[in-house]
Amino acid sequence: MDTIIGKVRSLSRRRFLRVFGQGGLGALALTVGGGSLLPRQGGAMQRKGARAVREIHLEAREVTWELAPGKRIKAMAYNGQIPGPELRLKEGERVRIVLKNALPEPTTIHWHGVNVPNPMDGVPGITQKPVQPGETFVYEFEARPAGTRWYHTHFQEHRQMDLGLTAPLIIEPAAGEPFGFDREYTLVLDDWATGTGRSVPRTQEGTAGASGGMGGMMGGGMGRTMEGMMGGGQHPAYDTMTVNGKAYPATQPLKVRRGERVRLRLINASAEHTHVARLGGHTLHVTHTDGNPLVQPVEVDAIPLAPSERCDAFFRAKTPGVWPLTCTQPGHTGAGEQVLVVYEGHERDRPAPIQEGAAALHLWQNALGRGRPMLPPPSGRERFFDLTLSGGMMGSDAWTINGKQYPHTDPLRLQRGDRVRVRFSNHSMEAHPMHLHGQSFKILAVNDRRLPAPVVKDSVEVEAHMGSVEIEFTAHNPGDWFFHCHIPMHMEGGMITLAKIA
Ligand code: C2O
Ligand code: CU
Repeated sequence: MDTIIGKVRSLSRRRFLRVFGQGGLGALALTVGGGSLLPRQGGAMQRKGARAVREIHLEAREVTWELAPGKRIKAMAYNGQIPGPELRLKEGERVRIVLKNALPEPTTIHWHGVNVPNPMDGVPGITQKPVQPGETFVYEFEARPAGTRWYHTHFQEHRQMDLGLTAPLIIEPAAGEPFGFDREYTLVLDDWATGTGRSVPRTQEGTAGASGGMGGMMGGGMGRTMEGMMGGGQHPAYDTMTVNGKAYPATQPLKVRRGERVRLRLINASAEHTHVARLGGHTLHVTHTDGNPLVQPVEVDAIPLAPSERCDAFFRAKTPGVWPLTCTQPGHTGAGEQVLVVYEGHERDRPAPIQEGAAALHLWQNALGRGRPMLPPPSGRERFFDLTLSGGMMGSDAWTINGKQYPHTDPLRLQRGDRVRVRFSNHSMEAHPMHLHGQSFKILAVNDRRLPAPVVKDSVEVEAHMGSVEIEFTAHNPGDWFFHCHIPMHMEGGMITLAKIA
């Protein structure tokens, strides 16, 4: 990333604020991705009625993208870069995002984790018509809640996300950050199928397989055997793993200075793979789940992330040298998922060796966190829904909720203010990261164990082989909201329902 975004990311936060001031990010956004974001209207802010609206321009188009030297692919990008430009908004700020579709096919954008009004949600056929080639669509919403969010295509997700239409969206809290930091980096993790046919192992058993413990090994082993027996379906051969659109050694090193607290915003934009982020020589202190702050940080060795999950964590830079940030999932680091953390003054050091495997590591899991109560208080009825996730049997690519494939699934019919509990039971042999549009939820229980202080998220992975998760949300945002597995193959296979909030 040789754009201003890259430069901003590598500035220390203190220095950044000194150089650009508090309003600086808005002005910066003007020049993101080669200058096409804002300037047409001649300024960052426009008046709409009495309210200031920030206008941002995104253009989706085909590009040739270099994942690593010599590894060029045909891809799709927002403003010519992968991931797309990082949008930085202030909580509560009103933003108008003008999407121009310069692709030869339709597209839309979904603002994942943002409580947008329903018509802005980007789901073709439900909240809007697909944006046709050459057309423009204007998304307008207030940026909330604060946190690490992201945006991505919601049209033929499997194909278009795989080709690169994903990007970070950071909403900065109006009341200030709950945990201090000196510097921050956003890391978008993604999987690519470049056509070599030599795929890294699938992680269909999800984060449960991340520990390398018995459950994971059994799940993984069985899964792969079954896949072999059943022919495996139409899986793209994901052979390359990237951090911010590049595979190691093309990844941009993260510069740090001794004594700093360095915040990482991890986003898993992969279609299929769980990643387990680990930084050699350092522990990671988890502060946010899907962008929502915990009461206090939780120290772990490594952080598993299912597709669409985000995690913010910081590390204390107190071990000078050059350290690899890698993924402990088999094959991922070798496929490019590696970025070096380089201490100032140690640029010429040799990187510390990569520690393999995840056995005996203390891994992040939702039950370790103490969430803050942040859902709007319910005012309506209590509702309960039991959703059984199934499918994928005998190599089929049909995936179901209560035995039905979307659009034949039964929607959750809700009234505004309802307190809604949903229990997922996974009867399939693959994990499912379930995502609710339009509002966040808290996680009450995982595998029938209650969480002492539920964390708040918008995606939650339900473990394979009879895993269960119970969530609760307040139906506060009216409209028809997609509620689905974030693995595009499962989604396209029918694992979608709707939360209809009247
Ligand atoms: Cu990020 Cu419908 O999803
Ligand atoms: Cu799934």
